[in-house]
Amino acid sequence: MKILVLNGPNLNLLGTREPEVYGHHTLADIEATCVAHGATLGVEVSCAQSNHEGALVDHLHAARGTMVGVVLNAGAYTHSSIALRDAISAVQLPVVELHLSNTHAREAFRHVSLIAPVCVGVIQGFGAAGYPLALTALHGHLNGRRP
Ligand code: DQA
Repeated sequence: MKILVLNGPNLNLLGTREPEVYGHHTLADIEATCVAHGATLGVEVSCAQSNHEGALVDHLHAARGTMVGVVLNAGAYTHSSIALRDAISAVQLPVVELHLSNTHAREAFRHVSLIAPVCVGVIQGFGAAGYPLALTALHGHLNGRRP
C-alpha cells in the first residue's frame, strides 16, 4: 500500500517561509515524519514537491495505478487551479486536501478551494502535525472506516 504526499508551490521554502504562519518545520522534516508515520500504519509513503502546476498534474497522473491515495497540499493552486481539480477527478484516487494554516482565518481569496469538492476530506490549521493526521485519516478511509 503506497500513499503519495504531494506538496505544491513555495512549500519547498518551509522553515524559512513566513514561519509565523507556516511554522518552523522544513519540508524535509515533514517528509521524514510522513515516511515514519506511514510505517506505523503499514503504508509506504512516497513524497514529491513541485512549484509547477503541470508537474503536479503529472504527479497525480503517475499516482494512478501505483498509489492507493494522495495527501495533497496544493498551496496557492488550491484557490486557482481547475487543472488540478480535473486531475483529481480524472485519476479517481482518494485525495485528502491539506493546509498547514487555517485558510478560512486568512484572506478572503484563500476561503475558496477549487479542489475540496473532489477530495475525500480536508485537514487544515494544525501546522506540520496535519500531515500525519491526514495520513491516518486517508488510511482509515481506505480501510472503510468513517469518522
Ligand atoms: C497553504 C495555504 C495556501 O493558501 C497558501 O497559498 C500556501 C500554503 C497552507 O499549507 O497553509 O502556499 O496551502
